[in-house]
Amino acid sequence: MDLISLHNQRWLKKKQLWNTYCPGSWWARGSIVSPEMRAQYECYLPYQEFRRSLIAIAESILPHRDWVPSVLRQQFDISALPDLWARLPDPYAGRVAFENHEWFPLFCALADPPRFGTDTGRYPQQLEWIQDFLAKSDPAPTILDLGCGVGLGTLEIAKLNPNGRTIGVTTEPLEVWMAQHRKLPHDPKRQREFEQFDNLDSKVDFLLGRAESLESIKDIKANLIVCNGLAGGRFLNKPNDLEQFVNNCQNLLVNNGCLLMANHFHEGELPGVQKMIDILVQQKWTVNGNWRQLVARRCLS
Ligand SMILES: C[S@@+](CC[C@H](N)C(=O)[O-])C[C@H]1O[C@@H](n2cnc3c(N)ncnc32)[C@H](O)[C@@H]1O
Repeated sequence: MDLISLHNQRWLKKKQLWNTYCPGSWWARGSIVSPEMRAQYECYLPYQEFRRSLIAIAESILPHRDWVPSVLRQQFDISALPDLWARLPDPYAGRVAFENHEWFPLFCALADPPRFGTDTGRYPQQLEWIQDFLAKSDPAPTILDLGCGVGLGTLEIAKLNPNGRTIGVTTEPLEVWMAQHRKLPHDPKRQREFEQFDNLDSKVDFLLGRAESLESIKDIKANLIVCNGLAGGRFLNKPNDLEQFVNNCQNLLVNNGCLLMANHFHEGELPGVQKMIDILVQQKWTVNGNWRQLVARRCLS
């Protein structure tokens, strides 16, 4: 029997046991998961075993093992299946078994969870700033979007920069694939957003890379770096990584280039953003704006 059939058979049986022996109803969006429920799920449907099974299937259907979404590869703050379901969009949440055609969209959903919120129209104030910047730029600039997700925000910027070059960089290979192919197999409604960029004649590239170690883009010189919803938040907040991120931006930017950072972070992430502002100021950047909307500039002379 193939991996997928085996997985489905095994996990549907486990679910049946849960239904037989556990009082209460199955997880649904918005369910409050008490410690007792968590323990029950762990007893009948252990998350680590489920995770390993998903990894094995992902490795068998994705082009490379590095494409396995990081939520499965790393030990995020998931201790039971309901924590994973809470990160998934509705068609996939609350389920343990999937039809053959659902697996690739499921992995895309894990690489681009609703909580990332990558979309167009998220940072209108920043777009206005970019428009002004472009009006004053000659020749047309190179713009780098670090932590670009599935690229909708990057394409929005690229549309404003038809004669320049715009490059989106992100860490999930599946996000790069979705951005390059303008496809969201797990979210057909949001995929329609890509249609507005069908006739885009700007030069746009999407690359795999990390904001704090820019191996893949070290030869690029950018006039503007955009980094939204990343620096200071849960993915990039260790002091060393923030320092490395700031150094990278310094190396990538032309003299007098700008770094823009906007976010919709939870208030609890303010200290992380403040840490990054402190590093920028220590390294002699001029920082303007507030923690949700920053403009940083560093002149060499
Ligand atoms: C919260 S989303 C923000 C997406 C988009 N910039 C926006 O604001 O709509 C954060 C994105 O950064 C990517 N990411 C996480 N860690 C990263 C890192 N170290 N370097 C670059 N991108 C990263 C994630 O895969 C995700 O796409």
